Amino acid sequence: MNVLITGISKGLGLKTSESLLRNGWTVYGISRSKTEELNELLLQYPDKLKWLQYDLGDAEKIRQIIFKDWIGLDTPIHGLVNNAAMAYDDIVTNLNLDSLEKMYRVNVFTPMMLTKFVIRQMLLHHTKGSIVHISSISVHTGYKGLSMYASTKGALEAFSKNTAREWGEVGVRSNCLVAGFMETEMSSSLSDNQKNRIYQRTSLKKPVDVNSVAETIKFLLSDKANSITGQNIHVDNGTI
Ligand SMILES: NC(=O)c1ccc[n+]([C@@H]2O[C@H](COP(=O)([O-])OP(=O)(O)OC[C@H]3O[C@@H](n4cnc5c(N)ncnc54)[C@H](OP(=O)(O)O)[C@@H]3O)[C@@H](O)[C@H]2O)c1
Repeated sequence: MNVLITGISKGLGLKTSESLLRNGWTVYGISRSKTEELNELLLQYPDKLKWLQYDLGDAEKIRQIIFKDWIGLDTPIHGLVNNAAMAYDDIVTNLNLDSLEKMYRVNVFTPMMLTKFVIRQMLLHHTKGSIVHISSISVHTGYKGLSMYASTKGALEAFSKNTAREWGEVGVRSNCLVAGFMETEMSSSLSDNQKNRIYQRTSLKKPVDVNSVAETIKFLLSDKANSITGQNIHVDNGTI
């Protein structure tokens, strides 16, 4: 089984790749940098882990570089995890259009283009594939400074639900994994005080376990989840 995952150099993408590789999946992973942890994983799974250095801010060359030159149109794809994202955080009155456009490219336009070509490949090979988009609890609760970022994830949630409706008939599923705050590089700029305030809004009063999110993604990709589509699955420590 082959899965395409974006953002595998660290954080959630790295953990999800590890978990899928342990379970026998072949992982096609994309990121801009090759971290030490990613390098170790590449050495551990030389045949099963394929890595492409690519800047997902470039949505135009996806078909040629990712699908034709790298994965190859002959390879069936069974899963897609749209995980890579950037966070442009600021209050709305400081909104900068260039920064907003850049974030929409990485967080929305590229995930949509990847979905387009993955579904085409699923149709070509008659694979009943599963697509998982990584969304954020900020869509559902609201945090100061996250309006622009949360809007990109809200766009993905709407896209996912409608994709599920459009392609369910041929067996393609699409879901969003709505993650709460995890301790990764993305959230590392927050102060302890800010983090504690965020954790106080969860029922479990702590950061979300990255492994718990990764295992849920693995479940959604698997056939065990064959009746789940068009849903937002929250892994957020019970955020209110
Ligand atoms: N951390 C949280 O608290 C939290 C909460 C809710 C949802 N999420 C979501 O969870 C997902 C994973 O986040 P994370 O916390 O694991 O973030 P992270 O530690 O910052 O990792 C982000 C990954 O995306 C890749 N990436 C970013 N921009 C890219 C680009 N232009 N081209 C290619 N790769 C790119 C990075 O690789 P390179 O830098 O090597 O390119 C990295 O592997 C994201 O969708 C995020 O929005 C995170």
